Amino acid sequence: MKLLVTGGAGFIGSNFILHMLEKYGGLRIICLDKLTYAADVSYLKKVWEKENFRFVKGDICDREAVYSLFAEEMPDAVVNFAAESHVDRSIGSPEIFLQTNVTGTSVLMDACLKYGTGRFHQISTDEVYGDLPADRPDLLFTEESPLRPSSPYSSSKAAADMLALAYFRTYGLPVTITRCSNNYGPFQHTEKLIPMVVSKCLSGEKIPVYGRGENVRDWIHVSDHCTAIEAVLSEGRTGQVYNVGGGCEMRNIDLVKMICSLTGRDESLIEFVPDRKGHDLRYGIDYSRLEKETGWHPRTDFAEGLKKTVEYYEKIL
Ligand SMILES: NC(=O)c1ccc[n+]([C@@H]2O[C@H](COP(=O)([O-])OP(=O)(O)OC[C@H]3O[C@@H](n4cnc5c(N)ncnc54)[C@H](O)[C@@H]3O)[C@@H](O)[C@H]2O)c1
Repeated sequence: MKLLVTGGAGFIGSNFILHMLEKYGGLRIICLDKLTYAADVSYLKKVWEKENFRFVKGDICDREAVYSLFAEEMPDAVVNFAAESHVDRSIGSPEIFLQTNVTGTSVLMDACLKYGTGRFHQISTDEVYGDLPADRPDLLFTEESPLRPSSPYSSSKAAADMLALAYFRTYGLPVTITRCSNNYGPFQHTEKLIPMVVSKCLSGEKIPVYGRGENVRDWIHVSDHCTAIEAVLSEGRTGQVYNVGGGCEMRNIDLVKMICSLTGRDESLIEFVPDRKGHDLRYGIDYSRLEKETGWHPRTDFAEGLKKTVEYYEKIL
C-alpha cells in the first residue's frame, strides 16, 4: 500500500504520518509539502531515514510536478492535508487560500483521475458549517447541516468539499471527506491558540483573547483525529462526509485559564482584544455517523491531553 500524504510537514499531517508508519510496517508514505511558514520537517525526524518514507518538496497547485510525482509513485490513495489553515491570515489575504485550498485540491483530484488512484481523502473542517448559538447546547452540526462558512478560510475549505463531492458524482472519483473540530497536541504552529497561550505564559507577556473569550470550540486530540482518518480510509463509504469531534466543548476563556493554571501563571496576564471579524460563536459536532459505521471513538481525556500538550510546548518553546 502506497499513500501520498500532502501537507505532511504541518501539524496534523506529520502526526498522521508518524502514526501510520508506526502502525503499518508494510506501508509506504510519500509526503508532498511546499514547506510554507507552517511546516517543519523536524516533526518528521523519526521517520526521515526510513526506507518506506519519502519526502518531496512541492506545491499541490503545480500540475506538472504533481502529475510527474503520480506517474513515478502511482499511489493507491491520497490524503490531502495541504492547506493554508489560519483564519486570521485568510482575513488579511484570502487569495492564497483559494489557490492552495481550492485549486490545489482540484489538481490533486485531476491527478487521481488521470493515474487511477483508488481513494482521495479530503481533510476538511467543522468550520464549513458556520456557527451555532451559544445558548442552544442541544444543537450540533451533522453531515446534513447546511454549509454556511464565515471566513475566507472556511469558505475555501467548503468550496474544496463541494468540488470533491462533484468529482465523486461527475467522474466517479472515490472520494471521502472528514470534517473535524479543533485539534490540539504536539507540532502545532505558535500562531494557533494553545501553543500561543503557552508561549505567552512562559514569556510572561499579555495573553490576547478575542472579545470576552466566550466563543466555544470543540477540542480533539490530534491522535484521535489521526485514528478517525485511518478508520475512514479503511471502512468509510466513498462519496460520504464524516464529522469528527472530541465531544469536548469549551469556552476559549476557560481553556486559557486552564493553561494559566497548568503553567503556574496568573490570570491577570489575560488581555481582552477587539473581536476577530466575523468570529464564529460556537462549534458543536455530531460525529455519530463515524462511530456507528466504524466503531471509532475519541479516546483522549481532555484534561490529561492538555496537560501533556502544555508540557510538550514548555519543553520546546
Ligand atoms: N488544525 C486544526 O485544528 C484543524 C481542524 C480541522 C481541520 N483542519 C484541516 O487539516 C489540514 C491540516 O491542518 P494543520 O493544522 O495541520 O495545518 P498546518 O498549517 O499546520 O499545515 C499545513 C501544511 O500544508 C503545507 N502546504 C501549504 N500549502 C501547500 C501547497 N500549496 N502545497 C503543498 N503543501 C502545502 C504546509 O507547508 C504545511 O506543512 C488543513 O486542511 C486544515 O484545514 C485543521
